[in-house]
Amino acid sequence: QVIPVILSGGAGTRLWPLSRKHYPKQFHRLTGGEHTLLQETALRVQHLAAPIVVCNEDHRFMLAEQLHSIGIKPAAILLEPEAKNTAPAIALAAIKALQIDPQAIIAVFPADHVIRDQHAFQQALDIAAQAAATGNELITFGIVPTSPETGYGYIETTEGDGGLAPSPAQSTTSVKRFTEKPNKATAEQYLSSGKHLWNSGMFVFKAAAYLDALQHSAPAIVEHCQAAMGAAKDDLDFIRVDAQAFAGCPSDSIDYAVMEKADNVRVVPLDAGWSDIGGWRAIWEILEKDASRTASIGDVININTHNTLVHNDNKNKLVVTIGLDDLVVRQVEVGSESYQGETDIVRFEDTFGRV
Ligand code: GDD
Ligand code: MG
Repeated sequence: QVIPVILSGGAGTRLWPLSRKHYPKQFHRLTGGEHTLLQETALRVQHLAAPIVVCNEDHRFMLAEQLHSIGIKPAAILLEPEAKNTAPAIALAAIKALQIDPQAIIAVFPADHVIRDQHAFQQALDIAAQAAATGNELITFGIVPTSPETGYGYIETTEGDGGLAPSPAQSTTSVKRFTEKPNKATAEQYLSSGKHLWNSGMFVFKAAAYLDALQHSAPAIVEHCQAAMGAAKDDLDFIRVDAQAFAGCPSDSIDYAVMEKADNVRVVPLDAGWSDIGGWRAIWEILEKDASRTASIGDVININTHNTLVHNDNKNKLVVTIGLDDLVVRQVEVGSESYQGETDIVRFEDTFGRV
């Protein structure tokens, strides 16, 4: 079976001040619908199997409540005592998945991505799951790049000149090289090569194949994660990863620790309206805009406002903007008194508190 693994560990500091350490972006409604990014992620893959969710222990009640309220009962919620990045987080989930099913295939999804075309996503997922079932390859999803973004991984395919596999894809394509976060000059070169795809940050593989690859390139991570899961304790609906064993685990991302080093990587091209919502501009881009290029969510009236994002997530308040340009306005409920609200106003490019 294919077990979804949802990674909900990041702090999303580029969406400051909305997304902070204690209330990261996956727990917010950002796309204009009724669900948070975490809920959208869980609903998108609920047909596969009950998910394994990996999150920081500070967020456990918010996470459990958000999943409960949409009727999703996770197979496990693994609590990390500290963030060690994605390679260990996925290792913990892989170890848990093998306890559920020794043949388990896991499909790894960040909790804070947007995917607008569920049908295209599902098709790509099916292809990846099929490939993972018949081999030990590590499957990624590749997005056709549109800019020399340096915050992404780049996947060089073995296809010839500009010959990226047709979309929608019929099968996986083998990967020549995976390069995580290249510098600007290299990213520009990759963009113009026509052979590179952005790594979407979603992966499908046999849980055992992932641990094998990790064992090969970063054995200390496997060792510490196995010890941390071996000594893990059940606590209500949660599984507490052992803090002492996990403390010594090296911190690294799957991209650096595994994907850059493995020689059995394959990619499925994905054209499904994917966005990892790196900042406010990305949210503005996916929303519908009026003639003044202003996007509004909730009860909002805009007068002479341009190029702005107005997000009113407070049912009890009306937000009126007058004469704003190039700003992000966000109104949220605070405290238990529902008539109270808090309004944040920032520029699109503000990145205070970015790590
Ligand atoms: N549970 C848990 N624990 N989750 C984590 C941790 C952790 O320690 N660290 C990160 N995550 C989650 C984040 O919440 C996010 O959803 C996902 O894992 C990816 O981590 P990021 O920190 O956002 O990675 P990135 O954006 O720098 O790069 C990755 O994603 C890009 C696409 O969005 C890489 O996979 C790149 O290659 C890729 O292009
Ligand atoms: Mg990210």
